[in-house]
Amino acid sequence: MLSTEQRKSRSGQDYLEKGTLKEGERSPNQSLLPLTAKINNHDCLEIGGCDLKTLVKQFGSPLYVLDEVTLRSACRQYREAFNRHYQGPSKIIYASKAWSCLAITSIVASEGLGFDVVSGGELYTTLNALEKMGLTSEQIAQQIYFHGNNKSLAELKLALEVGCTIVVDNWFELKTLAKLGNQTASINIPILVRFTPGIECHTHEYIQTGHLDSKFGFDPHQLDTVFNYISQQSCFDCRGLHAHIGSQIFEEQPHQDLGEVMVELFQKAQSYGLVLQELNVGGGLGIRYTEDDDPPSIEQWVKGVSQSVMKACDSRQLPYPQLIAEPGRSLIGSACVTSYTIGSRKEIPQQRTYVAVDGGMSDNPRPITYQSLYCLVVANRMSETCTETVTIAGKHCESGDILIHNVQLPQTRPGDILVVMGTGAYNHSMASNYNRLPRPAAVLVKDGEANLVVKRETHDDLIRQDRLPERLLS
Ligand code: LLP
Repeated sequence: MLSTEQRKSRSGQDYLEKGTLKEGERSPNQSLLPLTAKINNHDCLEIGGCDLKTLVKQFGSPLYVLDEVTLRSACRQYREAFNRHYQGPSKIIYASKAWSCLAITSIVASEGLGFDVVSGGELYTTLNALEKMGLTSEQIAQQIYFHGNNKSLAELKLALEVGCTIVVDNWFELKTLAKLGNQTASINIPILVRFTPGIECHTHEYIQTGHLDSKFGFDPHQLDTVFNYISQQSCFDCRGLHAHIGSQIFEEQPHQDLGEVMVELFQKAQSYGLVLQELNVGGGLGIRYTEDDDPPSIEQWVKGVSQSVMKACDSRQLPYPQLIAEPGRSLIGSACVTSYTIGSRKEIPQQRTYVAVDGGMSDNPRPITYQSLYCLVVANRMSETCTETVTIAGKHCESGDILIHNVQLPQTRPGDILVVMGTGAYNHSMASNYNRLPRPAAVLVKDGEANLVVKRETHDDLIRQDRLPERLLS
């Protein structure tokens, strides 16, 4: 933790000094800024070779700026780490709930990753992108895993049509699927069984999922009955097990314990004649949002999980299953920043100074939802020393709409560009139109080129779905 004195002499530049390592030298999830971040001769922050001030001029504000190099680097680091440390087959699937859109899906797919989807909408987006890339329906089916604790009948039917693997969450779903499966002769539905492993980890309670009192997955005590039931239904091709213990996790032990717990269950399934081949440990590796955060690298995490699974298999003389991880945040989180434009300022003598920006809880609901912390810089004056402590307020009609409390900044002026780091995961995907703010655009940057990947919403978009009954007009 830096002392107040040290913080006072800092500037935006200080974030760069630690962030300018080349692609591959640093695990993206340990980096506050995207890997390509630089300061140019106008003292302005550049990402993917694009000046943030110019981007805002061209695409408007607020703006999500997504660095392709960082995203690709994270995908490759996962893939290479599994190849290095796991001696069986492995698969990395992107948890698209972190941010699902056509461009991200196609980048991730081109890096050889598959997809975890949790709704008809995420499935539709993924399908659409993969079809546009020219993948065959068999290839598409193999790449997609469908999650969710309350999939609708329509969603299940769509999943069956696509032929993707369904991660079965509960009895209601299992029985519905059996009914659908038994109506169709010679259908073989690929499934994984999700269970709650009873492993607790230290993260915000809203994003813990592996402890027993969780809405997700079968209770482990029911697994005998579940395996027995599945073994009697000819419509299922039960490929393996799934568990996810939580998100933004820095400890390595919980995922290593999970490997052991799951391998033990593989053995249990065998006694029901089920030969499982896929072991999916979920996602959850954390990222560095502030200087105090110290997550393990992608490489370290993969090594720990791989070793625990191999050790557990060795001690039971089981073959190594296909090991699946489904990271979201650690793939996309550090690849994106959000640029805001500074507007009004309110000084309360001896108490606090608020500096307001043109977005807030609608484009980043994480601070108000989970009390999440973020770092930021003034992108158009990167080397200026911090001289004051301010609180960054959003523009929503809600007192809690504060992006960052008590942050050290240089003297800012209206029109300055404020850049919040680490906004790739669960920002755009959780964005809303609260107060009828149009959702911001997103641009993909690489080698000095910026491409729009999500268009900014307009006021017309906001009323597009509204309907005005005739009788209200008279
Ligand atoms: N697999 C499953 C089944 C999940 O539920 C999740 C996240 C993941 C994988 C990906 O986890 P990650 O690698 O991203 O940690 N909105 C919260 C995070 C919710 C996470 C939900 N599940 C936030 O903003 O922190």
